Amino acid sequence: MKKIGVLTSGGDAPGMNAAVRAVVRAGCENGLKVVGIKRGYNGLMYGDFYEMNLRSVSNIINRGGTILYSARSPEFKTEEGMQKAIDVCKSEGIDGVVVIGGDGSFRGARDLSLRGIPCVGIPGTIDNDIACCDYTIGYDTAMNTVMEMVDRLRDTTESHDRCSVVEVMGRRAGYIALNAGIACGATTILIPEVEFDFERDVIDRMRRTQQTGKRHFIIIVAEGIGGVSEMAKKIEEVTGIESRATILGHVQRGGCPTVRDRVVGSLMGCKAVELLKQGIGNRVVAMRKDEIVDFDIFEALNMSKSIDLELYRLAHEISI
Ligand code: ADP
Ligand code: F6P
Repeated sequence: MKKIGVLTSGGDAPGMNAAVRAVVRAGCENGLKVVGIKRGYNGLMYGDFYEMNLRSVSNIINRGGTILYSARSPEFKTEEGMQKAIDVCKSEGIDGVVVIGGDGSFRGARDLSLRGIPCVGIPGTIDNDIACCDYTIGYDTAMNTVMEMVDRLRDTTESHDRCSVVEVMGRRAGYIALNAGIACGATTILIPEVEFDFERDVIDRMRRTQQTGKRHFIIIVAEGIGGVSEMAKKIEEVTGIESRATILGHVQRGGCPTVRDRVVGSLMGCKAVELLKQGIGNRVVAMRKDEIVDFDIFEALNMSKSIDLELYRLAHEISI
């Protein structure tokens, strides 16, 4: 292995730059040439990349987003698109690729590995929804952003004796909602993994806390459940408490990465290079019980993980 590429794909996540930096620095220090591929698989299909050196990644560890840009690339999923990417790798001498992204991006990495281009995936997504990993790059920063935003909402919610119904990201998973919900002291947290009953889990809980003197309420709703505007209207109708809906949206994907995202991103980048240097591909780097490990991509994509239901129960026990 003489030359490797690195790309970021799917939704960006704070800490991706730390991973790119580590791949470039570890690659160069281990005698590899490293090219930065722009806009995910699009850059691979159309040869949009540039050679990187130790200084190409200066001053990026503190920056959100991704200096390599990111994209969703439907063309890459077609047989022709995949062939274009393979042809580019062969003609440009790219012997292996580090793919930083989510499950979808890993499927692409698996297909490329199958066709003779060894790839290593690094989990980069704010959603923390990759089965083989306890932790994905960007998750901590996103949760801290949610916490900061909801703290602000709490100020105005309290001043007006209102209820704030807040939608947070997570695609089909409730990890951000559950953990940020605890950190924000939400009265109720609604996540796709747990069935809820509006009367019991929202209205009755609000009434119980009202009886003990509470006058403002924060309801955190995962985007996999959605419908926050309707929910706020319904709460106001049923309880008479003025309610407002807020969808936090893409602010959750930006901003300066936290210590954890910088450190985990850095460690994962180094691990990916270590694997590729030995010619090992079709692997996903993962964090399990605070250790950096790696899995076969096929296995990783077939794994499942579940949310901590005890944490969910405790969150509600102490938010009353
Ligand atoms: P994420 O990586 O965050 O899950 P996406 O699901 O949008 O994001 O996937 C990112 C890109 O990975 C897609 O635009 C596509 O180019 C590639 N990809 C996704 N699914 C597949 C698949 N089944 N086979 C090959 N490539 C895929
Ligand atoms: O996967 C990250 C994520 O931000 C999800 O939380 C969200 O569902 C999705 O991406 C939004 O995607 P887009 O940026 O394409 O709107």
